[in-house]
Amino acid sequence: MKSIIYYFSGTGNNFAIAKEITNRLGDSTLLPISGLLNNKIIPEEYEWVGFVVPSYFSHVPPYVEKCMRDIVYSEKQKIFLVVGCGGNRGLSIQDMRKHVNNSNKDVALEYMITLPGNYILSYGAFPIWYQKLCIKLSCRKIRRITRDITDNRIRKNLNKGIFYKEKYESALQQSIAKFSITGKQYKVNDNCSSCGSCMKICPTENISMSNGKVEFGNGCSQCMGCIQWCPHNAIDYQGKAINRKKYHHLNIKKYEMFIR
Ligand SMILES: Cc1cc2nc3c(=O)[nH]c(=O)nc-3n(C[C@H](O)[C@H](O)[C@H](O)COP(=O)(O)O)c2cc1C
Ligand code: SF4
Ligand code: SF4
Repeated sequence: MKSIIYYFSGTGNNFAIAKEITNRLGDSTLLPISGLLNNKIIPEEYEWVGFVVPSYFSHVPPYVEKCMRDIVYSEKQKIFLVVGCGGNRGLSIQDMRKHVNNSNKDVALEYMITLPGNYILSYGAFPIWYQKLCIKLSCRKIRRITRDITDNRIRKNLNKGIFYKEKYESALQQSIAKFSITGKQYKVNDNCSSCGSCMKICPTENISMSNGKVEFGNGCSQCMGCIQWCPHNAIDYQGKAINRKKYHHLNIKKYEMFIR
C-alpha cells in the first residue's frame, strides 16, 4: 500500500509527526506541502494521501489553504488529515476538509496531536519535561493513526476544537491580517553569519539572501521557523523574540527541515 504525506512545518512538530507516520507505514513518500502549489495532481499510484499541518489562530496557515485548493485526487484515493498544534485546533480540520470536499472527495480519517506551542512572539519554549511528555503521547497517537490507515478504517469526522468560539473569529482574522501585512518587520542583527539556514527552512520560500544579507518578502506564514532555528539568535520581530527561549522539536535536526 503506497501513501504520500504532505507536511507544513516551522519548528519541526508537524515534520516529526509526518516523518514518523511515513516511516511506520513504509512504502510512503514524504513531501513539503509547497510541492502542491503548482502541481495539483496527485499520482494515482498512492492509495492514501495525508496532510499534516499546524493550527495558527484556530485555522490552518493560509499557505496551506492555497496548496490544498483544487487538488485532483484519483477516484480510489483515501485521505487523512492531522493537525499538530498546541492543543486548540479550532477550525483547522474543517478548513482542510472543505478543500478536500471541493475536490469531490470525503476525508476518511481526521486527528489532532498536541505538541508544544511555538508562537515565540507571545511565549518562549515550554519546559523540557512538558516537551518530552508531548512527544511520548504523540508517539502513541501516531501508532493509532498508522493502524487505522493500514486497516483501511473510516472514522467519524472531528468537531471543531473545544476552545473555539465563533465570537472571537473576527478578532482572530484581524490578528492574522495584521501580522501578514507587517511581515517585513523582521530585523536581522549583526550576529548573523549568513549561514542561509533561515532561507532553507522557510516553508513558504519567503526568505532570500543577497550579498550575504537576509531579506524577507511579503509571503510570511508566521511559522516562526526562521527565528526559532537561527543558530545565532539573529532574527527578531518588534523586540518580541530576541530574549525568549527558543523552541524546536527535540528529535528533529535543522538540516531535516531544509526544503531547498
Ligand atoms: C502564529 C501562530 C499561531 C498559533 N496558533 C495556535 C492556535 O490557535 N492553536 C494551537 O493549538 N496552537 C497554535 N500555535 C502553535 C502551533 O500550532 C504548534 O506549536 C504547532 O505544533 C507548530 O508546528 P510546527 O513545529 O510543525 O511548525 C500557533 C503557532 C503560531 C506560530
Ligand atoms: S539563520 Fe540566522 S545566522 Fe543564518 S543566515 Fe539566517 S539570520 Fe543569519
Ligand atoms: S519568514 Fe520566517 S516566520 Fe515567515 S514563513 Fe518564513 S520561516 Fe516562517
